[in-house]
Amino acid sequence: MKILMDKVTSDILEELEKTQRDFWNIPRETGIMLNMFIKMMNAQNALEIGTSNGYSGLWLAKALKETGGQLTTIEFYEKRQSVAIENFKTCGVFDIITPIQGSACDILERFEDSKKFDFVFIDANKREYVKYLELIKPHLTQKAFIAADNITSHAEKVQTFIDAIDSDNDFQYEILNLPGGLLTAYKNT
Ligand SMILES: C[S@@+](CC[C@H](N)C(=O)[O-])C[C@H]1O[C@@H](n2cnc3c(N)ncnc32)[C@H](O)[C@@H]1O
Repeated sequence: MKILMDKVTSDILEELEKTQRDFWNIPRETGIMLNMFIKMMNAQNALEIGTSNGYSGLWLAKALKETGGQLTTIEFYEKRQSVAIENFKTCGVFDIITPIQGSACDILERFEDSKKFDFVFIDANKREYVKYLELIKPHLTQKAFIAADNITSHAEKVQTFIDAIDSDNDFQYEILNLPGGLLTAYKNT
């Protein structure tokens, strides 16, 4: 494994990995993949559902800095969001991030019709994944990409989400064999 990352962010990521279990962060492998996906597709408007302390957000935002993109990230708990904001500031990415605090479904329901995302990362309440998909779909650009974590580790809770993607002819998808299982879906319309 080799990553291209500045020293400050590299150190913060390593520090956050010490408390990975407390904050339910994605594994490093998944962070690297998300970072590369964003760069490869030149994503411009990314949405993250489930900020926690900002660990995954740093992987996303560092890639978005390179593409000239923006990140909107949603977290229910104010305390976790504050920690995330500090991490984003320390790593020099806060200027491209819009943190939103609250319940994801409520927030997604209130998005204006004109709000569009070409990259979405889902990592919040597992049973709500299917609802997030339903609420996000009208806000996806053509050729948008969705990644969702914990597909194999929380298989039963996310089954309705997998079924919804599977039965939707707008998407092709694959579940990547990363720790926890990462579903990657491409909207082919
Ligand atoms: C698995 S953690 C996210 C980890 C983060 N993506 C990372 O890898 O650094 C899930 C987060 O989603 C938040 N969450 C859970 N349900 C939520 C909801 N309905 N709305 C907004 N945030 C929610 C939790 O508070 C928690 O911080």
